[in-house]
Amino acid sequence: MYEVKIPATSANLGPGFDALGIALDLYNSYIFEEIDGGIEISGFEEDFNSLENLVYKSMLETFEIIGYQPRGVRIVAECQIPMSRGLGSSAACILGGVIGANLLAGKPLSKDEIFRIATNIEGHPDNIAPALFGGFVTSIMEGDEVYYNKIDLVNGIKFVALIPDFTLSTKAAREVLPKSISYEDGVFNVGRVALLISTLQNGRYDLLNYALKDRLHQPYRGKLIQGYEEIFSKCEKLGALGVYLSGAGPTIMAIVEKNNNTFFRKISNYMKLKKFNWNIIELSLNLSGALINKMVNSRMINIV
Ligand code: HSE
Repeated sequence: MYEVKIPATSANLGPGFDALGIALDLYNSYIFEEIDGGIEISGFEEDFNSLENLVYKSMLETFEIIGYQPRGVRIVAECQIPMSRGLGSSAACILGGVIGANLLAGKPLSKDEIFRIATNIEGHPDNIAPALFGGFVTSIMEGDEVYYNKIDLVNGIKFVALIPDFTLSTKAAREVLPKSISYEDGVFNVGRVALLISTLQNGRYDLLNYALKDRLHQPYRGKLIQGYEEIFSKCEKLGALGVYLSGAGPTIMAIVEKNNNTFFRKISNYMKLKKFNWNIIELSLNLSGALINKMVNSRMINIV
């Protein structure tokens, strides 16, 4: 029996559409066990304790690639990552399933192969990479191949996630994007991505507010989120170093200095005053990525 713990992720970080992501200290845990027969799935939101479950479907795809047929499978989940909010819940499910299948099959896959399989199921690498490797990761796809680079950070920041009381599917949030963009908008984002990476690397947080600006997806997706512009600019006014749409949204993410003890209270008060019934949580970077525990003599022992 194994337990796989996958961190939440925040992709894009403004301009780095489908390329940048960070791992955060909020987790989904899945227990995987090969049983004598049948499929047992529990611990998910009621509708997802079924064969349509993304963890289970990702396991099946992986078993097929590996060429392994389990007698039966038990999955027990404990989920902290809210679904369809732009915090990497589907990446956690997919990665959990791929890692779980690999463990039950006797670990034939390397970490890089796990990354490739999970990314091909998800369709883009920017949540899968930090969920697997931890920290701040840049990643790309080239055909079916995937490449990533984990970036060393000056860890002087924390994140305040403003999580709406409504969901936004990645599919719907991708459908509102234009088929092409102007050369000018491409150049705008290239510069910001470069600035963003260098800023997080050397701690020039005074540049973050400029570096997080984006013209590829946020202007289109913002229209789907009630209160988007108002909340964005309020975060900036209340002292956030920068603000961006987490992943495909609808979560709005504010970055603040690690020792900032006032932003959380101020933005919480503002949201209450304006009757935005959103969940607001403070998150730190997760640097380890996915972790695996194995049941040995009735105790879970960390093996990765
Ligand atoms: N890069 C993805 C997007 C993240 O913005 O659509 C969401 O999965």
